[in-house]
Amino acid sequence: MARVFSSFALLTLAFSVAMASDHSPLQDLCVADMNSQVFVNGFTCKNPSSVQANDFYFSGLHMMANTSNALGFGVKPVSVTQLSGLNTLGISMARIDYAPWGINPPHTHPRASEILTVLEGSLEVGFVTSNPENRHISKVLNKGDVFVFPVNLVHYQRNVGNSNAVAIVGLSSQNSGVNPIANVVFGSKPDISTDILVKAFQTSDDVISSIRSKF
Ligand SMILES: *[C@@H]1O[C@H](CO)[C@@H](O)[C@H](O)[C@H]1NC(C)=O
Repeated sequence: MARVFSSFALLTLAFSVAMASDHSPLQDLCVADMNSQVFVNGFTCKNPSSVQANDFYFSGLHMMANTSNALGFGVKPVSVTQLSGLNTLGISMARIDYAPWGINPPHTHPRASEILTVLEGSLEVGFVTSNPENRHISKVLNKGDVFVFPVNLVHYQRNVGNSNAVAIVGLSSQNSGVNPIANVVFGSKPDISTDILVKAFQTSDDVISSIRSKF
């Protein structure tokens, strides 16, 4: 019986590890066919004989993302949506720009770990481990520094300088997904009931309504 249980535990573990990242490719390339009407996990492949160099190419990361918003940051993603050759490869990247003291607010990526390098400026970065520890691990990074955010953990960045900052990130998914905590909780459509959020955040209706009005 113990053996059955431990096999089951191992299987559960293996399954959860496999689910934490994109599946491995089963062929050299599978350029996404964005016009396909077939719904699969990811995208169906274009006919390999019609694949061109431009299917593996993206241009534009020399251009700054727009940071004129309340948070003072902008992202230029290069995921499978922008670069169809990424389909099935389990990787993607992005450029992130930060206005002075701008933030990339606390968020998670459901399908990717993220490795970040600072090209310009200084960033305060951090992530928080799962319950019950909720350990906050943070550091100030300077140009050339690299930091990794483990898959699915809540993390953030802040420009701690009076000039613009720029980072490049790599993500271990063709489509990492993003869940900004504030948007998910206070900006859902339809709303999560106010009384649920009042109890969850141990606060009042007014506070919940005030935060919600911003999303
Ligand atoms: C940046 O975004 C703001 C807010 O959406 C917009 O008003 C502005 O025109 C944008 N700037 C550029 C250069 O696209």
